[in-house]
Amino acid sequence: MRKLSLILIGLGAIIIVGVLLVTHINTDKNSGTTTNQTVAATKNKQSDGKSIVIYMTRTGNTATVAKTIQKQVGADIYHLQTKEKYPTSYQKMLKVARSEQNRNSRPELTGKLPNLTGYKYIFLGYPIWLDKNPMAINTFLNHYPSFKGKTILPFTTSGSSGLGSSMPELKQYAKRASFRSGLGLTDDQLGDTKQLVRSWLAKNHF
Ligand SMILES: Cc1cc2nc3c(=O)[nH]c(=O)nc-3n(C[C@H](O)[C@H](O)[C@H](O)COP(=O)(O)O)c2cc1C
Repeated sequence: MRKLSLILIGLGAIIIVGVLLVTHINTDKNSGTTTNQTVAATKNKQSDGKSIVIYMTRTGNTATVAKTIQKQVGADIYHLQTKEKYPTSYQKMLKVARSEQNRNSRPELTGKLPNLTGYKYIFLGYPIWLDKNPMAINTFLNHYPSFKGKTILPFTTSGSSGLGSSMPELKQYAKRASFRSGLGLTDDQLGDTKQLVRSWLAKNHF
């Protein structure tokens, strides 16, 4: 009888230890899975709608629009800068821009270009030069082998040209990107930047 009780107690102990072990393993497994899912979900949430404003400017107009978009969207921002500084004289600048276009040049950029992983929306801003985007924008676009899964929203400033004929180049060099209709502000509209940006963003569901 005593032997039987000892066996039963032993069996009970084994079962209890077994149950505890299984529970422990499951808890670990679950907490591991939960943590991974949470990280992935958090990442997904960010990459789903994460935006960056990337712009170049010579006299500050495009910077004004870029910063307005940044504030209204809550986006990150990156200022593209060429290694060679552009002349301040308009006439000299005209010559440089014409020469860059004629040579289809790729002016070198300074600094480390942003890692676009995790960004879904790229607001890309530049002034219109001789009806086109500055060639340095092509340098930027050529840097990335693919824009798959990313949407580019171009914005420009100009005397009167709107987006000019910059879109074909953007589409050619931003490989596999999607595009939304751009915002082309003229210099005399800059006083209304906040409202014009707001309504453009609203049309694009931001
Ligand atoms: C070299 C050069 C070429 C330009 N070409 C045009 C043009 O073709 N059409 C236009 O409407 N404005 C043109 N502009 C005016 C600029 O696009 C405009 O002033 C713009 O707002 C400048 O932007 P930023 O201050 O960001 O450099 C030109 C300006 C420069 C310096």
